[in-house]
Amino acid sequence: MSAGDPINVYDDLAPVYGDATEAARRRYETIKAAFEERFGAAPEAFARSPGRVNLIGEHIDYEGYGVLPMALAVDTVVAVRKAGNQLVVCNVDADKYPEKAFSVDPAQEVDVGKHNWGNYFVAAYKGVFEHLAAKGAAAPAPAGLQIMIHGTVPTGGGLSSSAAIVCASALAVMRMHGIELTKGEVSEFTAKAERYVGVTSGGMDQAISIMGMPGIAKLVEFNPVRASDVVLPEGAVFVVANSLAISNKAESATKHYNLRVVECRLAAGVLAALLGESKESARQVLTLKEVEPLIEAKYSGPKASTSGAQTAAVEELLHEGAYETAEIEELLGAKLTDLYEGNASALRVLAANGRFELRKRALHVYAEKQRVPDFRDVCNSGAGVEEKLAKLGKLMDESHASCRDLYECSSVELDALVQVNKAAGAIGSRLTGAGWGGCTVSLAREGEVEGFIEKVKGGYFKGLIEAGRIREEDLPECIFASKPASGGAVLTLKL
Ligand code: GLA
Repeated sequence: MSAGDPINVYDDLAPVYGDATEAARRRYETIKAAFEERFGAAPEAFARSPGRVNLIGEHIDYEGYGVLPMALAVDTVVAVRKAGNQLVVCNVDADKYPEKAFSVDPAQEVDVGKHNWGNYFVAAYKGVFEHLAAKGAAAPAPAGLQIMIHGTVPTGGGLSSSAAIVCASALAVMRMHGIELTKGEVSEFTAKAERYVGVTSGGMDQAISIMGMPGIAKLVEFNPVRASDVVLPEGAVFVVANSLAISNKAESATKHYNLRVVECRLAAGVLAALLGESKESARQVLTLKEVEPLIEAKYSGPKASTSGAQTAAVEELLHEGAYETAEIEELLGAKLTDLYEGNASALRVLAANGRFELRKRALHVYAEKQRVPDFRDVCNSGAGVEEKLAKLGKLMDESHASCRDLYECSSVELDALVQVNKAAGAIGSRLTGAGWGGCTVSLAREGEVEGFIEKVKGGYFKGLIEAGRIREEDLPECIFASKPASGGAVLTLKL
């Protein structure tokens, strides 16, 4: 399978849900019934796209580096029918996600000031039409749509519930307008589209949601987006556990996610300037990856292109502690607000923050990007299973320490959960996704996984049950082992 393949279309649930097809059928029947109750007719098609867990490579996709996620079985389903002259977006869980209606105009603005769940659908809708315009393809007339959504990806949990809804919505919009695009195209435009919701995210979540495959993790690379298979060692199981500290990327973007994206770009520009680029060229440098050749030119020798040389350069050139706006403006020869002219998300970051950590962020990125090919190489190596597991576990532990200490995207709850995971026997454990809350991913041996999960339940979740935060019956959603699952698809079902 490659980025050039068309989106999968199935007339059966089994290719997507495998062993869980019967439960999936009941769920789809419920979605169909909710659709009929609201709209008085059956949906014409369903589109679905999954959440993901990232195994390694955190906060480096927007710096141009490859990451290594896998698709999860939890997903978002969009039932859709062409009708009326509006986009009527409903959710099976109407109490939590009340009905919203939008115009069919693809040029409408997404109101980021008023965050609401329907914005994700509108972002996807705009994305489809903008992609057609960008490639100079004729677009069909925008049609009114009736939509009923149901999601099982926990929200604010770091498992890409937002990519799942954006990708599934895009597939539904395409289907209803007769638009056929490749998996690569959909991965790219949905990543851009999600930025309408106000998060300047990279492209990992959408790429794996669209290109995921059962049984296989993917090394996802960018520019252009592509995914290659990574076969995980026999007997390796990844366990996802939710810290239950909710972190909504869109709502906290200015202080968390988008701030980190700005810090990385400023670190790249400042490094370029200190490596001898003119201020004008340094201002054009957007990612830490673009700084690599400049480092290589200065730090000659056999290891010049490695993470080691990049770390040495950062340690030598960027000072400890935060940079103030004025200091960066002096180094780059321009006002930061001019540098980000027209970029509303970044301007909100500048308005809310006057100090930027550059050294720690760059140190994280240059070390973390190396752990991704290292992880893949361990999986592909001829080493014995135990040796492979130990090496993968070590890479995961290092990744967590770097996210916690250098990128500062962990949280008290995540650190506590990682400790419980390790004490329960995880070979490696780390936060996954954007962080500041959400989930951890731990590596365990297949034969030990049940015992591991029981210990984590006792060590982390029992207290939360006693405190009334969750119920015993919620536990299967809070901690579960997952194999790589299917990517996005359109389903034409006879239910
Ligand atoms: C979020 C973003 C991704 C990626 C991760 C961190 O999930 O959507 O693009 O940056 O955070 O690795």
